[in-house]
Amino acid sequence: MTVTIVGSQLGDEGKGALVDRWGGDADIVVRYQGGDNAGHTVVEGGEEYKLSLVPSGAVRGKIGVLGNGCVVNPRTLFDEIDSLHEQGLNPDVRVAERAHVILPYHRVLDGIEETAKADSDRKVGTTGRGIGPTYEDKAGRRGVRIADLTDENRLRNRLEYVIPQKRAIVENLYDVALSELETPEAFDVEALVKEYAAYGDRITETGMAVACSQFLKRRHVQGDSILFEGAQGSMIDVDHGNYPYVTSSNPTAGAAVVGSGFGAAVSESGEVVGIIKAYLSRVGEGPLPTELDATSRERDLAESIRDDGGEFGTVTGRPRRIGWLDIPMLRHAANVNGFTGLVVNHVDVLAGLEQVKIAEAYELDGQRLETPPVTTEEWLACDPVLRSFEPWPAVNWREIAHEGYEALPAQTKSYLEYLESELEASVYAVGVGPDRTETIERVNPFNQHWSVSSL
Ligand code: GDP
Ligand code: IMO
Ligand code: MG
Repeated sequence: MTVTIVGSQLGDEGKGALVDRWGGDADIVVRYQGGDNAGHTVVEGGEEYKLSLVPSGAVRGKIGVLGNGCVVNPRTLFDEIDSLHEQGLNPDVRVAERAHVILPYHRVLDGIEETAKADSDRKVGTTGRGIGPTYEDKAGRRGVRIADLTDENRLRNRLEYVIPQKRAIVENLYDVALSELETPEAFDVEALVKEYAAYGDRITETGMAVACSQFLKRRHVQGDSILFEGAQGSMIDVDHGNYPYVTSSNPTAGAAVVGSGFGAAVSESGEVVGIIKAYLSRVGEGPLPTELDATSRERDLAESIRDDGGEFGTVTGRPRRIGWLDIPMLRHAANVNGFTGLVVNHVDVLAGLEQVKIAEAYELDGQRLETPPVTTEEWLACDPVLRSFEPWPAVNWREIAHEGYEALPAQTKSYLEYLESELEASVYAVGVGPDRTETIERVNPFNQHWSVSSL
């Protein structure tokens, strides 16, 4: 049985909380794309874990696999593993031999490119983790993979080919002298070989590297349940999202099979659960038609939601932009991913507001649109068609979480039912707080014996 958890919006929907929750029923948790641009939060009994690379199932003691579709920064990976040890955990992390490696020059190039784009208003607002440059090298057939780290000569050979190209880009295209950089050693073959071959040694000594496809197949045949942990969100998918204000991978569900080598037909018999935040947050640039920023009243409202929801980037600390829930965006995500179920998080954050709204459609040049237009220019020109919902009061969410779904305020249930009818999928769980115990579960996707008609 497989369950794939996918972000339905722009990232930070609370995926980590659900991967942790349902990771308890899985044997293996697999990341299939992205890298340390992700920031997934797990809260268990008041203890908070912020994970960028280690799959969120680690907190449950499950095997965590970084699939071949991920881009892996070994510095971040080992720092994270070491700090989890300090927090008393002993994560069992495997990394695909075929996964690509983020090297220091990728980060430098990410920064230089963003600075250059800022001059022409084309900045994406990346996390600066070198994600885009690493995927570019993968597609450009000049990347370095995990398997290359475990053989010093192979690693040197790869770097001797690529480093002169990177130096030329920095010096000749961007006109930046290497000596001006904070980390000129990022472009020094021998310095890189020394550091990265040592990571290779650690990978070999710990037996972390796996042939991902074979590993998952074998474990699946033995009866293991697999949870695929999507990072980022559907609207920042490089194919299906708001190009070019996207990340450079595919967070959408189809990528789970490519990014892990798991058979498509096997995975298809599983569940795909879309994680939704009850409002919108966006970190980085790009359109946000329902953004609360037009008047000082809206800005105050956004600030209060931002504070209550802790809406500051897990990776970069940047304040997240805030907007009302956007149904056109979710219709598109439901279509692309084929959701079998939904989770709606953060309903507690909207409690006690004077108004709660949802964009049910957009208006563009007098036309009503049910899904977002393809270009950023058109999307920026869209006006949201807003529908008001009756706000729900602030209640004791812990108590409600304990009592279950029926105890939710009637107004909250109406909001959730509207989502179910628009997206043609059932709400499997509702988040009323960050802790594992503050997720109200209606359906556990690992339980194959449920039926929608019983809801
Ligand atoms: P992810 O990237 O999708 O895993 O989400 P993040 O961890 O970046 O951001 C979600 C934040 O909201 C984290 O601080 C979570 O602990 C918190 N969170 C998750 N679910 C809920 C919820 O239902 N209510 C509240 N108030 N916070 C939540
Ligand atoms: P999780 O997994 C929210 C955004 C960045 C930027 C764009 C490209 O925690 O939901 P990148 O560094 O990937 O090249 O940046 O994507 N972004 C995220 N936004 N949550 C994330 O991850 C994100 N990962 C990248 O802010 O707009
Ligand atoms: Mg996050």
